Amino acid sequence: MQPITRGEFVRFQRFILDHAGITLADSKQALVTGRLGKRLNHHHIESYGEYCDLLQGGTAPDEVQIAVDLLTTNETYFFREPKHFEFLREQAVAARAAGRGFRVWSAASSSGEEAYSVAMVLADCLGEAPWEVLGTDISLQVLQRAARGVYPMERARHVPPAFLRRFCMKGTDRFEGTLLISKDLRRRVRFGQVNLNEPLPDVGTFDLVLLRNVMIYFSNETKQGVVSRVATTIRHGGHFCIGHSETLNGLNHALEQLAPSIYRRAGP
Ligand SMILES: C[S@@+](CC[C@H](N)C(=O)[O-])C[C@H]1O[C@@H](n2cnc3c(N)ncnc32)[C@H](O)[C@@H]1O
Repeated sequence: MQPITRGEFVRFQRFILDHAGITLADSKQALVTGRLGKRLNHHHIESYGEYCDLLQGGTAPDEVQIAVDLLTTNETYFFREPKHFEFLREQAVAARAAGRGFRVWSAASSSGEEAYSVAMVLADCLGEAPWEVLGTDISLQVLQRAARGVYPMERARHVPPAFLRRFCMKGTDRFEGTLLISKDLRRRVRFGQVNLNEPLPDVGTFDLVLLRNVMIYFSNETKQGVVSRVATTIRHGGHFCIGHSETLNGLNHALEQLAPSIYRRAGP
């Protein structure tokens, strides 16, 4: 593996900050060489400086996407932070009682486990009533996995057994050892690429937005921009969930805190 100089590492810090708003700590040199080393080999490039030239030359947008995919951390699992799913059920049941549909955005969805967990709860409590889940991420690689809805079987351990029976199929033949999200559930969940560090496309308004375990990678300045943009997509009276290890302290926002990681947009 090629060594990386301090100056080269600083260029990668700048690159991922500019593209994704992600702050790479000074201690993350091994992460950069571990994840990007194979791209140098792929291009027969001798140094990280040359690879950075390729990324910044404006001639290799596909390579920029690959580098962003490799530098993002995509850890996730089904029903992570279960209290949010209890809260989701309460809100969805209240919306049904009020005769409203229900829309949820999983705004850093990674490979889709969060969006499908939401969909399982909504299918369970709303059935065929109108509801929709949008899952977005900056990484195309994880979005492709999300859209397929095929996961290693060991991922099933966080899915409640009744949901596993109802919404997941056990892979056979070439899918042996995998679970496949049922077609009925997959057709209620849409995935697409959204970079939260840029102006948002028109995604509509949501009853609940989940923005979990991504702001830990953002500086306060990036967080401020992201939260301001995302908050406009929450309907008045709708809700916003962040990861349990995250906080909106120190940011300007008009959200009312209901619990440590749950906020409400003021309004009727
Ligand atoms: C650790 S995962 C969290 C997944 C899920 N929300 C959860 O809590 O399990 C963080 C995700 O944020 C995505 N991400 C990082 N920067 C982003 C940005 N600027 N815009 C959109 N997604 C981003 C990464 O690609 C990664 O998939």
